[in-house]
This record gives sequence, C-alpha cells and structure tokens, in this order.
Amino acid sequence: MDEITKIVQQALEEIQNCENSSELNSVRVKYLGKKGIVTSLMKKLKELAPEERPIFGAAVNKAKNELLKKINEKLDELSQREKEKKYAAMAVDVTLPGARKDIGHFHILTQIQKELEDIFISMGFSVVEGPEVEDTWHNFDALNTPEWHPARDVQDSFYFTDKILLRTHTSPVQIRTMLNTQPPIAIISPGRVYRRDYDATHLPMFTQMEGLFVDKNVTVKHLKYCLEEMVTRVFGKDAKIRLKPSFFPFTEPSFEVDVWFGNDWLEILGAGMVDPNVFKSVGYDPEIWSGFAFGLGLERIAMVKYGIKDIRDFIRNDVKFLENY
Ligand code: PHE
Repeated sequence: MDEITKIVQQALEEIQNCENSSELNSVRVKYLGKKGIVTSLMKKLKELAPEERPIFGAAVNKAKNELLKKINEKLDELSQREKEKKYAAMAVDVTLPGARKDIGHFHILTQIQKELEDIFISMGFSVVEGPEVEDTWHNFDALNTPEWHPARDVQDSFYFTDKILLRTHTSPVQIRTMLNTQPPIAIISPGRVYRRDYDATHLPMFTQMEGLFVDKNVTVKHLKYCLEEMVTRVFGKDAKIRLKPSFFPFTEPSFEVDVWFGNDWLEILGAGMVDPNVFKSVGYDPEIWSGFAFGLGLERIAMVKYGIKDIRDFIRNDVKFLENY
C-alpha cells in the first residue's frame, strides 16, 4: 500500500510538471498504459493472500481513477493554454499600417486635359473630338487659310497625299462641329496635332485644346471672361491674362494670350473672334452669327504651371518624371 501511495505521489508530480499535451500523454502511458506502472500493479494481486486482494485491488483502482482525473484536468488546462497561444500568434494588429498597393496615376497631360475639360464643362461647354487624319479643306481652306499660307507647306506638315494630312491644329473640329450642328455652339476639343518640329519647345506631335463659342452678339468680352475663368482656376486666383494683337487666318481680330504666373508673362494660347469667311464656308450668315475661338497647347500649359523646361520630357517616359506629377 505504501508503494501505491509513493507511485501516485510520483505520478502526480510528473503530471503537474508537464509543459504540453504530448508530455502529458507520455506520463499517461507510463502509468496507465497497458504496460504502465499502475496497470502492472494488478499483476501483483496473485502474489497476495486472498483476503488482501480486494483491499489492494480497490486501492489500485482508486489510484488509477485519481490519476485519470488529474490527467484530464491537466489536459484541459494545457489545451486551453495551447489554444490561447495559437490565437495570440494568429491575432491581427489592426493598428499596424496596411500593405499599400501602388496604383499609378494619369499622365501629366491627361491630368491637365481633364482639369481643363472640367472647367469648360462647368461653363456649359461640351467636349467633342475630331479625326487626326484630315483633309486640306477642313484643316486649311474652310479656315480661311489660303494656298500661299506657310502652314500649308510640305516642309511644315505631314502629308499622306496632296489633300490628306495629319491635322496641324484642332481648328478643323470647329468646321466639323459647325457643319454638324446649329448655333448656339459651345464646345472644346482636345486632341493630338502634328507639325514638322523637334526641339526643346516643339514636338512633331503635341496636344491642343480647341474652343469654339457661336451665338448672337458674341464679343471679345465673352472670350476674355472664359479665358480669365480658365486661367484663375488652373493657375490660381492671382493669375491674370493679357491679350496681344496677333494674326490667324480664321479669326479677326486675333490675339495671343499671355498669363501672368510666377512673376512673368507667358504665352499660353491663340484666340480671336471667328472670321466671317469661316462662317461663310460652313453656310452660317455672318450678319447673324458671331463667335470666338481659341486654341491652347496642353504641353505649354503644363510647362508653365509646373516649370517644365523641356517639352520632350512628356514623351520620354522617364518614370521619375512621370511619378513627379
Ligand atoms: N489653331 C491655332 C494654332 O494652332 C490656334 C488658334 C485656335 C488660334 C483658334 C485662334 C483660334 O496655332
């Protein structure tokens, strides 16, 4: 009987010291397994006197049950602890910064284009597009640009045939729009244009935005208002504009428009009142209709706004440049 007590004490101590469920399982096998220490005690029954056997047997059973109970309690405790550990390892710290995905952004020119579109749309203009491959009638003749004009020279433009070329400006969209619709007209038309130029301030392909407004009694005041509105929204409320006399075959009078920005006057666009000959070429009566038109270079606007020195940066696809805007 002393031996049983000793074994139980020893077993209880080992159970208590178990650090995890697999250690505990080893202790269970050691004492209660088929060949375990407690199980083996039963084999000693035969060696005992018959009257001692029930007492001894009951004591072994009691020891067995006690150990079983302790093992189960310990198992509960250990598996609870292991669960807690596992959950702690799985826990998400919601205060950590997220894994940010790089999602890119629009090219600087697209940004400027959208910005200008929003501004003119808010003034009631709609956005229209025209073809980049044009005929000389839409690109020149209908715009009061006669045969002798240097813009028509093959040295200055890209011709496919005598009469088909890459448009040299977005102004032919004025013609296409007036032929398609009737006044009042308020449109802008962004798009690519092509000229035989290539240096730090000129590209053979660049982007313009045409504007055309046609109604009764349109004056330079209306043109100036729209341009001032545009300029203060793009360049800030301190920006001013200045109209200088200029010449375009399709406007009369014509202006070059400068913006006051960063302590300097910078030329950003050409504009003017639609020439009566342009109205005639689309069948509008110039005695009834009047209008203004303008054409601005998107690269130019971006260069002025952001101080970009070389127009070729727009097409170099230097990631550092692109990421900068
Ligand atoms: N088409 C002219 C150019 O490309 C700009 C312009 C447009 C001027 C409309 C006046 C009116 O230079």
